[in-house]
This record gives sequence, C-alpha cells and structure tokens, in this order.
Amino acid sequence: MPLALAGFASRVVRWQRSHGRSELPWQNTRDPYRVWLSEVMLQQTQVSTVLGYFDRFLERFPTVADLAAAHEDEVLGLWSGLGYYSRARNMHRCAQEVVSRFGGRFPPTAAQLETLPGIGRSTSAAIASFCFGERVAILDGNVKRVLTRFLGFDADLASAANERTLWDLATQLLPPEGDEADMPAYTQGVMDLGATICTPRKPTCLLCPVAADCKAKALGEQERFPVKTRKLRRSSASIWMLVARDTAGRVWLEKRPAKGIWAGLYCLPCFDSRETLVAGMPALPDEADLHDAPAFLHVLTHKDLHLHPVLWSAKKNAQASAQGAWFASEAWPGLGLPAPVRKLLSEPPGA
Ligand code: ADE
Repeated sequence: MPLALAGFASRVVRWQRSHGRSELPWQNTRDPYRVWLSEVMLQQTQVSTVLGYFDRFLERFPTVADLAAAHEDEVLGLWSGLGYYSRARNMHRCAQEVVSRFGGRFPPTAAQLETLPGIGRSTSAAIASFCFGERVAILDGNVKRVLTRFLGFDADLASAANERTLWDLATQLLPPEGDEADMPAYTQGVMDLGATICTPRKPTCLLCPVAADCKAKALGEQERFPVKTRKLRRSSASIWMLVARDTAGRVWLEKRPAKGIWAGLYCLPCFDSRETLVAGMPALPDEADLHDAPAFLHVLTHKDLHLHPVLWSAKKNAQASAQGAWFASEAWPGLGLPAPVRKLLSEPPGA
C-alpha cells in the first residue's frame, strides 16, 4: 500500500481520540443492544433527533428481550416521528430473532449480524467493530464522501461494480491486522469526519487530519465527490383522506395493512378519489356534514403525495368506514401515525 494510504487509519484514530465525538449515549459502551439501537435510529435521522428517542426506547425496553416481547403497536408508537417506519418493524423482528435464534445475545461477527432483519452490510460492520473490535469496513453516506474524496475515487457509484470496488478500498484502508483495538475509534472517526469536517458543501479541510494526502483537496474539487449519476425516479399519487370527528372530538383511525405505504401504522381512512371515499362510508353521509379542506403536498423518498382531506362531522356512535375505531386525542401521541396525519390532527384545517 502506498505510504499515504497506510497513514490514513492511524491519523483518523488519533484524530477521533482527541477531536471526535465522545459523549454520545451509545458511545463508551460495548453493549450490542445499545449500539444496534442507535445505529438503526441513526440510519436516516440526525444525532440531535435520535438522542431523545434513544433514551425513551431504552427506558421502556431495557433489554433486547423486552423489545422482542412488546406489541408491535407500542414499538411503532414510540418510533412515531422518526419516519421510515420499516426500520421500526425490522427492529422489532430483529429483536425477536436475536431471542429465538441466538438466545437473546447479539452474535459477535458482522457476517452473522447481517443475517438479521434491518441490519445491512454497513450497520453490521458498525456493530461488530464497536462491540467486538472486528476488522470490517463501514460505508454509509458520510463515509462514502470521506473515502471517495480522500482517494479521488470518481467512478459512478450508481454502478454496483464501482460500489463493490469502493467497499474493497474501504477494507484496505482499515487499521492493520493486529490493531483491532483501534477499530472502535477508527469506525467512529470516519463517521465523525464525514459528519463534522468532510461535509457535503464547504468541507472544513483546514481541520482534517488527512487533508495533506486528500486527492479531492489537491484537485480543489471536494464537492465533485462522491459521483453518483442515477436520479431517483419519482412518482406521484393523490389520496383522499377521511378526517371523521365525532361530537366528543375523537377521530376515526384504521390500522394500515402490513405491506405498502405506512404499513402497520394507524391512519385516517385513505381512498383513490372522493367518490370512493363517500362510497366507503357505511351510511351515505349528508353532504352538508362533509367539508373539503385544502389539498397539500407530502413528499416521500420516492413519491409526491397530494393529500385531499375530507372533513366529516359524525354523529355520536356513527361508523366512519368498514374497519377502524374512534380514538380520543390523548391516544394519538402513543400511536404510530404517518407524519401528515399527525400534522392534520394537531393543526386541523378550518379550525
Ligand atoms: N451515524 C451513524 N452511526 C453513528 C455514530 N455511531 N455516531 C454518530 N453518528 C452516527
């Protein structure tokens, strides 16, 4: 390995120990349950948001066995607001498999961890390196940026072959065999560099421990890396949502099917058109009791949703749709609700 590459890991490790983050609640522990919980929460969510959720999860579920034994609705409820709910469902299934397949102890290698639901190659490597000192590379979005810039790796990561090449390079940059004790600091260090110094725009190269050998910096083209051409193919859909309120202020909610958008969450009844919404109500409503609120846009990762709320003032004990139930406002915070539904309930249109 060229000398510049050989120095990468040791400089990252030294920098992490003196300048990296060290006070996060999932650091300074080798407990795989805590590390796994934090890594899954951090997959698409910022540290500042995760902190509160992490504490609440641990308080309610102190061990993986407690989480495994919980009802899915409670897990989704505690997750409410973190988004990407498939993470919460996978997390729950993962806890159950840790109990059923591994006797309640997380397995100690990245290869075994990766066989569990919701744990991909990078997350398994993070857990194995933090908790068991395994010499395995992580490659999340932040780390891709650090490594492609340092190496001047400008092959298109939209191609799986190029992505594999970058994984191989990431493995070559790890601390050498025999230095496994450095793995936790190294893994945390490349993450911290990406999050705090090697940022997408205007990186702070002046403070970077590997700037002297960074190819992108030498070119003055830091922001050109990483290269990824494929654009997300976005689609759009229109959804009519029945916002039924009874005289007591309760709202009618249904549990979504196990598959598809907002799977398993509690939600307002959803329809493809206003006509099907009205037709779905058990008794034909009086048009005077229906009110069309302004439509609004909700953006998902791959889809723009145009949401059309239809408000209905229901008589006492009326049914709003074939399945579902009335929920009082005290119950809403504890339910897993899609973000736009939470918004509609907390800021009712026309209120
Ligand atoms: N993002 C993903 N994992 C992280 C960690 N361990 N610390 C800080 N940010 C992270």
